[in-house]
Amino acid sequence: MGSPQSPPLAHVFKGTFVHSSASAPLEILPGHLLGVDDNGTIVFVEQADQLEQLAKTWGFKTSDIRQLSKHEFFMPGLVDTHIHAPQYAFTGTRVDLPLLQWLTSYTFPTEAKYQDNGFAEEVYTRVVRRTLKNGTTTACYFATIHTDSSLLLAEITDKFGQRAFVGKVCMDMNDCVPQYREITADSVQETERFVTELLEKKYPRVQPIITPRFGPSCTEDLLNALGDLAQTHDLRVQSHISENEEEVKLVESMFPTYQNYTELYDKNKLLTSKTVMAHACYLSEEELKLFSLRGAAISHCPNSNFSLCSGVLNVRKVLEHNVKLGLGTDVAGGYSASMLDAIRKTMMASNSLQINKVNGTGITLEEAFQLATLGGSQALGLDDVIGNFEVGKEFDALLINTKASDSPFDLFSADDFEDALQKFLYLGDDRNISEVYVAGKQVVPFSSSV
Ligand code: GUN
Ligand code: FE
Repeated sequence: MGSPQSPPLAHVFKGTFVHSSASAPLEILPGHLLGVDDNGTIVFVEQADQLEQLAKTWGFKTSDIRQLSKHEFFMPGLVDTHIHAPQYAFTGTRVDLPLLQWLTSYTFPTEAKYQDNGFAEEVYTRVVRRTLKNGTTTACYFATIHTDSSLLLAEITDKFGQRAFVGKVCMDMNDCVPQYREITADSVQETERFVTELLEKKYPRVQPIITPRFGPSCTEDLLNALGDLAQTHDLRVQSHISENEEEVKLVESMFPTYQNYTELYDKNKLLTSKTVMAHACYLSEEELKLFSLRGAAISHCPNSNFSLCSGVLNVRKVLEHNVKLGLGTDVAGGYSASMLDAIRKTMMASNSLQINKVNGTGITLEEAFQLATLGGSQALGLDDVIGNFEVGKEFDALLINTKASDSPFDLFSADDFEDALQKFLYLGDDRNISEVYVAGKQVVPFSSSV
């Protein structure tokens, strides 16, 4: 492919494209042509009747076009705004305790094992492969307190071609599992080393993120130093907030000089337009307003909220406050690493509020799809790069086959395209995700070099 006036295209696809825009939670574009250049950027999305003109402008031949079958479509890659890579080791087990007990009984002892790079390499390779196969093209990862194995997670993510933020976890308070905590000064110094060494690798799509674990795991000194670091280097921040009622009470008793949990982060420069906070089930109106004012985002993790009996986030209320919102798996508080599961649990969380007659409308499947793609990109500040199929964005995409040979659902002759799409969103899995692209590069099926 190629012509004198433009560089060659990497892909030209013809078929149906499904995505969200800011105003429409679901747009179905049948019979369209989408072109991707060598940098992985989408250069056109047009009706197929524009073929002749497009072929002339972009210098491709009809034989260069990849024609999708009528059971296939492209959708944007899924954005997991909150996942703990080390906890993948015990995903699908031990969701039988409330948050604080779950952390001290299972999570901290497991995370302590990641000072061993061999163990880390095994689990981190598995979690990156599993999430990519399930369509997570972008992940916002918590690692552990160990700098070297956290750098290894970044290396593995880059090797497989997943887009990611990776955070070395910071925590200088842990009375219950004292072997899993840091000295305050070391935590700050190691975070600086983590950020410097990760940036020096110049991975194109893997970046560091400042990661205080949550209020109860950090001293004020640590929070303050991390806020300074984030501000000085203009870095992203991730943490947890108001996940469970016992945690909220604990924060109130540990930090009595602050008005509320949100103020604890805000006064320590950790609540910015580059921040994503997981859960947020129990935020007050006032706190939501502060999130909105600062441009900070929330990661909704419904599987985890149900599995650990933490709470139910009122998504409609968050959206009405103009707070950016994405979905997260929160592995392993959430037992599934699949963002399709996060979409489904988002629907169940919304339904449970409807059953309990909580004010406000429920959200639609189309809106849950929007949150899992475009919403996630907004929450991570990547919406000028990914999130939908707008010209100029990078092509992060999933090729879906609703009639894959081993598909977990059935289609009947009366089913139209929207039925097939809904069946995929409610019942589909990685067997229906035949190819995954990040910035125009096919990353699933895995290449033999990874
Ligand atoms: N709060 C602090 N740490 C964690 C964690 O690892 N998982 C969840 N779900 N909540 C947390
Ligand atoms: Fe979490």
